Amino acid sequence: MVIDARNQSDTIFHLVISIGGMAQSYVYVLSPTSAGAVPFLAQTNPAPFGQATYVANAPLETSEPIVGAHGRNIFHLMGNQSPYFPAENGFGVDEYALPEGANISQMHMLQRHGSRYAPGAAPPAAWAPGIANATATGTVFVGDLSFLNDWSNILGEDMLVPLGPKELFESGVLNYYNYGQLYDNSSKLVSAKNFLAGFFGLDWAEHANLIITIDPAVTGLFDCTRYFDGIFLAFEQADIWKNIYLKERTAKLRKLTGNYNWTVADSYYAQTLCSYETVAVGYSDFCQLFTYEEWEGFNYYMDIFANAGVGFVSPTGRAYGIAWVQEFLARNFWPGVCLEFGNDADIVAAMTAFGLRQFAEFLPVTGPPAHHQFVSSKIIPFAARLNIEIIKAPHKISARRSKTSAHHDDYICGTGETHYVYFILKQRTIPLHVSFEECEYRDDGWCELPTFMNVQMESLAKADYQYACFGNWTMMGYGAYTDGRPV
Ligand SMILES: *[C@@H]1O[C@H](CO)[C@@H](O)[C@H](O)[C@H]1NC(C)=O
Ligand SMILES: *[C@@H]1O[C@H](CO)[C@@H](O)[C@H](O)[C@H]1NC(C)=O
Ligand SMILES: *[C@@H]1O[C@H](CO)[C@@H](O)[C@H](O)[C@H]1NC(C)=O
Ligand SMILES: *[C@@H]1O[C@H](CO)[C@@H](O)[C@H](O)[C@H]1NC(C)=O
Ligand SMILES: *[C@@H]1O[C@H](CO)[C@@H](O)[C@H](O)[C@H]1NC(C)=O
Repeated sequence: MVIDARNQSDTIFHLVISIGGMAQSYVYVLSPTSAGAVPFLAQTNPAPFGQATYVANAPLETSEPIVGAHGRNIFHLMGNQSPYFPAENGFGVDEYALPEGANISQMHMLQRHGSRYAPGAAPPAAWAPGIANATATGTVFVGDLSFLNDWSNILGEDMLVPLGPKELFESGVLNYYNYGQLYDNSSKLVSAKNFLAGFFGLDWAEHANLIITIDPAVTGLFDCTRYFDGIFLAFEQADIWKNIYLKERTAKLRKLTGNYNWTVADSYYAQTLCSYETVAVGYSDFCQLFTYEEWEGFNYYMDIFANAGVGFVSPTGRAYGIAWVQEFLARNFWPGVCLEFGNDADIVAAMTAFGLRQFAEFLPVTGPPAHHQFVSSKIIPFAARLNIEIIKAPHKISARRSKTSAHHDDYICGTGETHYVYFILKQRTIPLHVSFEECEYRDDGWCELPTFMNVQMESLAKADYQYACFGNWTMMGYGAYTDGRPV
């Protein structure tokens, strides 16, 4: 079932499995894609350089005068539409080196696709005709919205934008540096091409095959029927917050739109266009319509949506994610690397199915709690990834790690070989003791593998796939579900 996919879009693969001979078969269907406008940043971005929000090209330059930003970057507040960035703050613990003599024996990775255009049916494409219609029938946008008089949708559909391959390529390079030795070169690895080019170099096809499979969430073929009840609730609840955080801005923008009835939905689409246009052509007029605080609101909208859609607040989050968790558990004793490519929902659902309750807190639709953990831009930006390492150490490693050395002083004398599991989300440690009381407190956030495997023995039962996906349970309100499964 291996096909050569070099001429095909990168966005539709879903489950792609590693290591020679172990490819699993899925339905192969390609969704339609289209290319967008070619960028020319020097002409499209009129913003002065050197403003407070200036971010040097990397490769995007994002000079935009955002009210209230004070040098902070709104592109880190775009939920699952944020370009990839490693989080400045981790998830509660620092990162520690392997003590000398310990090895990583396996690495499992779930990698989200890189920056891309929105799916065809999504807001930018669906919203543009209404604007065109308005200007064609006499609406004149004024003030900050006057750019809309000449605006049209220049975005393509569903394909990766130029930033997307770069993000995946960089992930491949980083993962190669971290895990290159784990690759057994006697077998072809199966995974996605930009990542592979970073991992193996441009002759990756010598080392890997690419299998393209359907993305069930995009195509509607995902057969967990009751998952959609949760998605409906997620939209409904996130919309309550949307109507709060965009209320004032919408009223102000409405004054600039003549006979076009600009609503909260329009404000929200304008925000999504900021992120999609920026990654597509390097600049968007929509970004500076909103204050920094309103961008925080946008991010929180995504937090609520993702958490209620496939997180702990969803009735089917565990069911959605359990396949990957089961696969991880089944492969646990295989040495090497296991790469899988998927979407943002796959990552959140896998975290839910593992039971990472650090991210389970309830998110009120009236506004974000202080220091909440489920921050979508930090968890699932474009090219987000979850790496899980299995570490083999000759002795137990002290739970109190020394910061200064990666040497023998971290071992506990008189103990034997010990295996650990280590979760890394977007290059930062997820401390397993926070979510699992069975895992002892450790500075490095690792957990002993047998302990972790014991905890996970319950995850399949908790996901309750048949009942969650097909059972006749009564859908309840927001907040009724707290463990990613029906009550
Ligand atoms: C770690 O890997 C190195 C290189 O493959 C090997 O020499 C060493 O014996 C391994 N150590 C352990 C504890 O397995
Ligand atoms: C186009 O504009 C006219 C006049 O404002 C309006 O009646 C009609 O509903 C609009 N159609 C669309 C598709 O937005
Ligand atoms: C695999 O690695 C070995 C040792 O580095 C090398 O001799 C061999 O040529 C490699 N095989 C392939 C197919 O790359
Ligand atoms: C504008 O849209 C809002 C929200 O849909 C609606 O409540 C209001 O009646 C509309 N106003 C006009 C003048 O159509
Ligand atoms: C599902 O449950 C509802 C409410 O308890 C009940 O009315 C309905 O008959 C059930 N449907 C099936 C197919 O069991």
